[in-house]
Amino acid sequence: MEEFETFFRRSMKSDNLLLDKISHYIIRRKGKQMRPMFVFLSSKLCGGVTSSSYTAAAMIELLHTATLVHDDVVDDAETRRGFFSINALWKNKIAVLVGDYLLSRGLLMSIDASEFNLLRIVSHAVREMSEGELLQQEKSRLLNITEEDYFTIIRQKTASLIAACCESGASAAGADSEQLARMKEFGTLVGLAFQIKDDLFDYGMGRNTGKATGIDIAERKMTLPLIHTLTVADRSTARKLVQVVKNHNTSASHVRWLTNTVTEAGGIDYSRKKMEELRDRAIDLLMTFDAGEAREALATLVHFTINREK
Ligand code: IPE
Ligand code: IPE
Ligand code: MG
Ligand code: MG
Repeated sequence: MEEFETFFRRSMKSDNLLLDKISHYIIRRKGKQMRPMFVFLSSKLCGGVTSSSYTAAAMIELLHTATLVHDDVVDDAETRRGFFSINALWKNKIAVLVGDYLLSRGLLMSIDASEFNLLRIVSHAVREMSEGELLQQEKSRLLNITEEDYFTIIRQKTASLIAACCESGASAAGADSEQLARMKEFGTLVGLAFQIKDDLFDYGMGRNTGKATGIDIAERKMTLPLIHTLTVADRSTARKLVQVVKNHNTSASHVRWLTNTVTEAGGIDYSRKKMEELRDRAIDLLMTFDAGEAREALATLVHFTINREK
């Protein structure tokens, strides 16, 4: 990860003064870097880390960063990683352009290294992420999201990139197509659990996450705890919950009532259970690979995904 760090920092360099300033700001407030870890450990599990693993890790972290910069514009989020978001400091116009820049730098990394297979894997994930974000927007307008829609959204917007980490990491190590498919599926399962955890944070289920809580509701985004509650609550409560999302989504007291209702109806417990099921399936799949240091570390990373506090 230390070597990766240098590699990653270099990948953001620009002669443009404003871009360089913003890149610096982003690098200083780095995230958990779980995606590069998934890339490297997947390589290690499938034969060993290669120079392609570095390209994959840096490329994916850049694309991830680009999507976060855009996501905060889309979600109107003021904070990210414990500090102001790019849009909060430089406004939406600049954030959109910086996101585009990071996206292009990410894709160019694989071109410069002539890694076309990697470019194919990751470009598919980027396309899916955009589709997932758009489907989420569509659902937040119509407020008719089902549990099935929710899983489609999180598979596309989050799990696809983590799946790409595991697939590209394995591919960098020269894994065969059967192994690649298993690693991709492993990444998908972890990615789904990852996003359920993130959605639980929005209900205040974390400490110092560096992100605001209740912003999903403010954006009319219905996630698993609420979706489940709507299916078990009585008609009048369900109607009231939808009314809050529709008309009182920025009122703190209404959102607090919604959060309490969801908790009491078992929406949080249900989501946690789903997340743990996905974790178990991910671990079972992981156990079909050879035992060793890499497998153990990946298992630890899976457990961290659902136990983390930020
Ligand atoms: C945040 O991802 C975006 C989601 C898919 C929920 P991370 O929680 O991995 O973000 P950083 O990079 O650690 O900040
Ligand atoms: C994650 O979506 C961003 C992408 C996968 C593009 P969210 O909007 O749910 O994530 P956070 O909570 O802002 O990190
Ligand atoms: Mg967001
Ligand atoms: Mg979002």
